[in-house]
Amino acid sequence: MKVVGGSASLNLAQNLARVLGVDYVSVQREKHPGGFPDGEQYVRLQASVAGEDIVLVQTTHPDPKIVELLLLEDAIREGGARSLQVVIPYFGYGRQDKKFVDGECISARVLAKHVQAQADRILTMGLHNPSVLKFFDIPAIEVEGMTAVARYLRGRGVDLVLSPDKGAVRHAQTVSKDLGVPWDYLEKERIDSFTVRMAPKELEVADRKIAIVDDLISTGRTIVTATSALKQQGAKSVVALCIHGLFSADALEILKVCDEVVSTDTILSPVSKISVADEFAAELKGKA
Ligand code: R5P
Repeated sequence: MKVVGGSASLNLAQNLARVLGVDYVSVQREKHPGGFPDGEQYVRLQASVAGEDIVLVQTTHPDPKIVELLLLEDAIREGGARSLQVVIPYFGYGRQDKKFVDGECISARVLAKHVQAQADRILTMGLHNPSVLKFFDIPAIEVEGMTAVARYLRGRGVDLVLSPDKGAVRHAQTVSKDLGVPWDYLEKERIDSFTVRMAPKELEVADRKIAIVDDLISTGRTIVTATSALKQQGAKSVVALCIHGLFSADALEILKVCDEVVSTDTILSPVSKISVADEFAAELKGKA
């Protein structure tokens, strides 16, 4: 087995190769210094993949990383790999998983259709909705990422694990079970991309250390609104943790209302303090 890293997931791919104890294949990304004048991408594998079981790691965000993923898949197949498993740490476009109004496309299905074309198996994590897996015609699994979040929280004296909305309850439950502390959830209403409202809910949070866990943080509005409500109710501290730290616009700035913000390395950010390499390695080990 060998691991190839796309440029959206270099750290995680290198970590994964180290944990698996297999070779990491570097990728040349410029044919000439400065790249193509029109901005098109170029990839060239720096080691042979002929006859190898290859694991390619690439998050599908932002958009150019999707094209790079398709190019790398092709290079790996052209190179004569025996098999190709694609690890998509963060499945970008996964949130548009159905037609909400007429005239829309189903973005998650479009992505699935294209990224699976040259792959034998897909591994992803922290899906907005696990039903996205049904869009793949090849074996596709969601690897549990909240175990890594729970690992980070162990021994930090968390009293309550909270989901900021009903959608993330499954994540709060996983962390709560691991830590052996209770969980609860807030009722969120999304007004638009930048505005959320939390329904008033009395929780036993006074003088308690709260961990809010979510699949992803984008604008940070969800977490900021929840944290403000919790602090008003007397919470001692609020740490916000997510699998995918998108942190769009001024998210990291407004999130300073939290005592700590932590994400994993599915998307690299200044607060990627947790690696999910162990989680993906455990799934891949049987095939090493
Ligand atoms: C939504 O259902 C997700 O689980 C997140 O809560 C949401 O996408 C976070 O978005 P934002 O950080 O923009 O509030």
